[in-house]
Order: sequence, then C-alpha cells, then structure tokens
Amino acid sequence: MMKQTIVLLSMLGSTLLANDAAALAKAKCATCHMLESPNFFQLQKLKAPAMDAVVFHVKLAKEKPEAQKAFIVDYVLNPDVSKSVCESNKVAKFGVMPSQKGNVTKAELETIADYLVKTYPHKDFAAMIKEVQANDKIRALTDSPFLINSDRLPHLTKLLVKHWDKGALGLTPEQKKKLLVIRKETLSAVKKIKMQLKPLEDEVAEAMIDREDPSSVAPLLEKIAKLKIEATKVHLKCISQTTAVLSDEQIAYLLPFWE
Ligand code: HEC
Repeated sequence: MMKQTIVLLSMLGSTLLANDAAALAKAKCATCHMLESPNFFQLQKLKAPAMDAVVFHVKLAKEKPEAQKAFIVDYVLNPDVSKSVCESNKVAKFGVMPSQKGNVTKAELETIADYLVKTYPHKDFAAMIKEVQANDKIRALTDSPFLINSDRLPHLTKLLVKHWDKGALGLTPEQKKKLLVIRKETLSAVKKIKMQLKPLEDEVAEAMIDREDPSSVAPLLEKIAKLKIEATKVHLKCISQTTAVLSDEQIAYLLPFWE
C-alpha cells in the first residue's frame, strides 16, 4: 500500500513538473512564440518564429541535447545575431529577439529549455517542413533556367543569404560588400533571362497543342537553348566570383548546407 502510494505520488510529481514546464513556457515565451504547431498559412503571419521552427533549427545546429539546452538558455538571456542558428534572412525579418533578462530566471529557463528539447519540434511540424523543402526543390528545378542542375553546382548566393550574419561563417564587412554586388548582378541577369524564356516556352507549348509540325518550333528551341546557355554562364560566373571572395574555411562551412 505504502509502496503504491509512493509510486503514485512520484508519477504525480513528474506530470506536475511537465505541466509546470509547459505552463512556464506559456507564461514566458508564448507572447511572441507560437507554441502549437503552426499550419502553412499561420507560418506566414507570425511575429517571431514558431517554437517548432526554433527548436528545429537548434537541433539542426547542435547535435547533443545538453548543447541544445545550453544554447537556448544562453540565447534567451544574451541574444545576438552572430550566435543565431536560424536563417539570417528570417532573423532579419523578425528582428533579433530582445533579451529576456529580468523576465525569466536562469532556473526557470533551465526547466523551459529541458521541456522544449524534449517536446519540440512536434512530429507533424517536422513532416510539414520536409514537405515544404521537397516542394521548394521541385519548384526550383522546374523553374530553373540553367542547363546544368547538378547538386555539385550550388546556388551560393542563396546559401549566403541564409548564413549571412552567422558568427560561424564570419563574413567581414568588405566581403559582404563584394558579395552583395555579385548577388545583385547575378539575380538581375538571371531574372532578365527568365523573363525572355517564359513567352518562348509558352509559344512552343501552344504550337504543340495546336498540332503544329514540330519543325515549325525549331527556331524557338534554338533561342531557348541560347538563353539557357547564357543563364548557365551567369551561374558559373557567380560561383567563381563568390568563391574568390570566400576563404577555404568559409566555403567548407557553407557547402554542407547545400543538399
Ligand atoms: C518579445 C518577444 C519574444 C519573447 C518573449 C521570446 N522570444 Fe524568442 N525570439 C523572438 C524573436 C523575434 C526571435 C527571432 C529572432 C532571433 O532569432 O533572434 C526569437 C528567437 C528565439 C530563438 C532562436 C535563436 C536563433 O538561433 O535565432 C530561441 C532559442 C528563442 N527565441 C527562445 C525563446 C524562449 C525559450 C523564450 C521564453 C523564455 C522566448 N524565446 C521568448 C522573440 C521573443
């Protein structure tokens, strides 16, 4: 009887603790961070990344649960863009998190961080992110004006935007200045080519639906091919110019993020 009571009490104790942690997270973090899993449309309207997204990125960046926990505790008290593990363009969109020093004690944070690492990201969120990433990849491929869409030819300019302010990448102000020029030139050249490609491709499709002789669109195909060669040259030039600005260490840091 006595033993049963103790077991029951300790079970009660651990559910109470879990409830405490959830309540603490709600009290201290939910004014900004959505704690439930956001759906795709909610994701677009948040004022801070949803907790699912936050912990998803923390876990991508830090392998061990202790390191994940330590990162959360430190970031909440001393947030800094160079420490951030979220994508730099997203952090820029939301603005860096204000320090919660004074709003939450270190002990409370330890409890919260423990709970977050155990509970987040929720399974359905992780599945949604995977699907969004897979769709993005397919869209990038169907939308690509390049002749070569090899995983070994990264879109460096896109990668850089996501890691722009990270301390681990360590871009200097001079590097940033040069990279911005390369980015701007690349994007505008590719955009121009894409705008020319679209009507030509539409014309080919229409001709075939109208049952025209394929030989009638041969000149269009030549034009399309030439434009894609131009776009590919822009892409290769971007890779060559970007890697000339970056150090070997910086390139080695970035490339694993390109899959
Ligand atoms: C006043 C609003 C606000 C509150 C309160 C708040 N956060 Fe944040 N938090 C943000 C914003 C905005 C970001 C995104 C920008 C950034 O990463 O700095 C963020 C980002 C984060 C990140 C990601 C850091 C990274 O790598 O970029 C963590 C971890 C985090 N918050 C944890 C917490 C926890 C835990 C709490 C509760 C104790 C909390 N936050 C309370 C606004 C808030």
